[in-house]
Amino acid sequence: EKGGYDYFMLKEIAEQPQAVADTLLGRLTEGGEIMLDEVRLTDQDLRDVDKIFIVACGTAYHAGLVAKYAIEHWTRIPCEVELASEFRYRDPVLDRSTLVVAISQSGETMDTLMALRHAKEQKARVLAICNTNGSTIPRESDAVLYTHSGPEIAVASTKAFLTQLVACYLIGLHLAQVRGVKYADEVGAVVAQLQEMPGKLRDLLADIEPVRELARDLKSAPTVLFIGRHVGYPVALEGALKLKELAYMHAEGFAAGELKHGPIALIDQGTPVVCVVPSPAGRGMLHDKIVSNIQEVRARGARTIVIAEEGDTAVLPYADHLITVPRTPTLLAPLVTTVPLQVLACEIAAARGHDVDQPRNLAKSVTVE
Ligand code: M6R
Repeated sequence: EKGGYDYFMLKEIAEQPQAVADTLLGRLTEGGEIMLDEVRLTDQDLRDVDKIFIVACGTAYHAGLVAKYAIEHWTRIPCEVELASEFRYRDPVLDRSTLVVAISQSGETMDTLMALRHAKEQKARVLAICNTNGSTIPRESDAVLYTHSGPEIAVASTKAFLTQLVACYLIGLHLAQVRGVKYADEVGAVVAQLQEMPGKLRDLLADIEPVRELARDLKSAPTVLFIGRHVGYPVALEGALKLKELAYMHAEGFAAGELKHGPIALIDQGTPVVCVVPSPAGRGMLHDKIVSNIQEVRARGARTIVIAEEGDTAVLPYADHLITVPRTPTLLAPLVTTVPLQVLACEIAAARGHDVDQPRNLAKSVTVE
């Protein structure tokens, strides 16, 4: 049942190219248009949207954080991302023209369900991104986009995360198309880039062995820090969450620009810092900024583990360990940069002798508030 893998988590990591392909399947027309047939909202409903809230928990929340960058860029609709467990307690401003996107692999997470019920009471439209057909969250939503990534058994979410990202990209692109806004002309190019992702993920996974070796090396570190900027910031949060839940190690993700406002004091001789680097081809300034953050932490003794694009020579002098990922446009990069962090956490946990698929104190689906 584990298909020859030691853990379900490794199997599910390996399934990611197919899972991403399955999320895209049947949703892109020949002409590059995006079809979201389970979205029971009219084009007029979508044109009326003036604000988006994404609500989710854990890894799904991190997918939402990435989605904000893409959705705001493509659609110019303001988009906020909120932990579902916080949402209803602060009396958010919602009305008919608010679109609330609830992201949940299981479709049963109570915090997310309560957030969506609150949104519906306030007359907002609710769109669910979900992996489990017929579960409660999609049933109670106005519309649903299923991720079709197949059952996810391991408690730690992997393929569900990547496919949640794909679903969010599709929604962003669809909204941009329907509303015909400024960046609508980018849609065709992004669709083509999305279709290349399964192949890129296959290439990445074929060359993952160095990450496993690194994991054995890091298994006794007292803490591991993760830094990133822009969409690399939620990837850093996700890398840290994976390590906490699987390896029971202290780990924290930071926006790289925040380091100098406090967290840099944590860095000691040999502290591992995982740095998520954006494509140098995309937003050049962003790339330069993180390269200088890497220099800063290294100057204070950090051992740097750099996740960068193939051919990125600027990071070479500052990388104690370099993990390369296929070239990918900035907004889509989390689809590749997350994968080595999943493998890293899984292998560190295994090296520490933990039950990778069933970490202590955790359940796959959290059905209490
Ligand atoms: O089923 P959901 O996507 O609603 O679950 C949300 C979180 O509980 C989940 O992502 C959790 O954080 C995972 N264990 C992370 O790997």
